[in-house]
Amino acid sequence: MIAGGEPGRQAGLRARQIDIGHADLGKSKFHGPGAQLREQLFFTIDVLPSTQDHPPILETRHVIWADEAACAATARSLAQCAAVREAVIELRGPLGAGKTTFVRHLLHALGVTGRVKSPTYAVLEAYELPESPRAGPIWHFDFYRFNDPQEWEDAGFRDIYAGAGLKIAEWPEKAEGLLPAPDLRIEIDFQSGDAAPGDDADDANGGARAARFIACTARGRELLP
Ligand SMILES: Nc1ncnc2c1ncn2[C@@H]1O[C@H](COP(=O)(O)OP(=O)(O)OP(=O)(O)O)[C@@H](O)[C@H]1O
Ligand SMILES: [Mg+2]
Repeated sequence: MIAGGEPGRQAGLRARQIDIGHADLGKSKFHGPGAQLREQLFFTIDVLPSTQDHPPILETRHVIWADEAACAATARSLAQCAAVREAVIELRGPLGAGKTTFVRHLLHALGVTGRVKSPTYAVLEAYELPESPRAGPIWHFDFYRFNDPQEWEDAGFRDIYAGAGLKIAEWPEKAEGLLPAPDLRIEIDFQSGDAAPGDDADDANGGARAARFIACTARGRELLP
């Protein structure tokens, strides 16, 4: 159990540790005395909210990006919001959907110069914006290869999330139960009928994407396109 974590986060961890998985709540899986009590206990744990699994949804916006230029335009308008500097943002979507591409455009619009590398292998790429009015750190995570929860503590990720700056994470589902609930969740997917990069179908239709922006906090609402 993580000490001092927010209640929802702790609840998520408890549920995972006990591995209730897909408990069939309608039928008893236990036999003998106390079975009913145990079933009740499992049910109680199952309904505890996890902010990571089910962050509150305040507002949702759908955007279609016909091409990468449209993705860049949305990223630029997000960079104009002052609230982005302290935001927790997560990006979901299949491989090659455009998560890093969106971050790349966002960071460049915020003033990051030079290359914005995908953190797929390093898990974290950090940036410092020296220029006012947007000075401050930016933390770009990719949890795709994150598989050791101990690293959350050892690498200081918990401290980063508790500290200042923009925190933006790809593949947050791979660090489920550890990450705090985001201000903004962005889900990117290939536009219906589209295919993954490299497929002929994708080359033919120019890389259209469907993006869903989900505000989970008041700050997240300020960030909606
Ligand atoms: N509308 C679009 N929006 C974003 N990227 C697009 C778009 N159309 C084409 N692309 C291209 O799709 C690719 C997306 O790759 P990217 O690395 O950003 O994906 P990813 O979601 O980060 O994948 P991974 O899960 O592997 O990290 C890039 O080559 C980008 O140029
Ligand atoms: Mg990526």
